[in-house]
Amino acid sequence: MPVAQAFRPYVILNAAMSLDGKIATPTGDSRMSSAADMRRVHRLRASVDAIVVGLRTLLVDDPKLTVKFVEGYKPYRIIVDSHARTPLASYVVRTARDVPTIIAVTSTAQRKRIEALRERGVTVLVCGKGPQVSLTFLLRRVRMLGIRRMLLEGGGTLNWSMVSNSLVDEISVAITPRILGGTGAISLVGGTGAPRVRDGVKLKLLSSARYGPDLVVRYKVLNPGPPSH
Ligand SMILES: NC(=O)c1ccc[n+]([C@@H]2O[C@H](COP(=O)([O-])OP(=O)(O)OC[C@H]3O[C@@H](n4cnc5c(N)ncnc54)[C@H](OP(=O)(O)O)[C@@H]3O)[C@@H](O)[C@H]2O)c1
Repeated sequence: MPVAQAFRPYVILNAAMSLDGKIATPTGDSRMSSAADMRRVHRLRASVDAIVVGLRTLLVDDPKLTVKFVEGYKPYRIIVDSHARTPLASYVVRTARDVPTIIAVTSTAQRKRIEALRERGVTVLVCGKGPQVSLTFLLRRVRMLGIRRMLLEGGGTLNWSMVSNSLVDEISVAITPRILGGTGAISLVGGTGAPRVRDGVKLKLLSSARYGPDLVVRYKVLNPGPPSH
């Protein structure tokens, strides 16, 4: 077990996907949750200390990553963005003084970009020297900021990095009754994948329930690195 995993938040991956496992169409359209499922997602957001997404989700969706329908909750928003490319005009940067916002970068990010983000109220965390953000480092840092429970909201590339590094404890997926297809369309997890079925990440079904037309399945990840509470 990697040492860094001994001290990190409990991580829940949540996504909406089509029956064929896509979380977006080939053109990047990802609005597939029903109204009933959206309410579930916002209750879930209200139960965590932080919501984390990858840079491409930010660039494609310009998400708010805030809590609706439940009053008084402002979890941190965390963007995983190695080179500090998050646009200054993005919603999360424009509202960083109202909602706590972290952008995780590496030491390769331009100093000028980091300063511009900080001037707008963003907390920039330098997480490693590599080409991409060190996720174990990031999780250790945010746990030290008091983040105990974190919601991972994709996309597929970040989901794979988190799952394959044993950094996810629980997964909930809303299956929307559509088939989207598209070889290049983003799936729930991307990455290099498991070579054999027996190498895949093992899950245990916790529950299944209908939310309007969607079926929400919740799984526990077996043998993740132990979180610290
Ligand atoms: N249906 C849903 O529930 C749902 C939810 C979320 C997203 N989506 C969709 O998913 C699509 C985006 O997914 P995506 O797979 O293209 O991108 P993504 O996972 O959102 O972002 C990936 C990017 O994160 C950055 N990153 C930095 N460090 C990383 C690390 N250690 N591991 C992985 N990524 C790291 C990389 O960019 P740098 O190298 O520049 O840092 C990487 O290209 C969008 O179309 C969005 O709408 C759907």
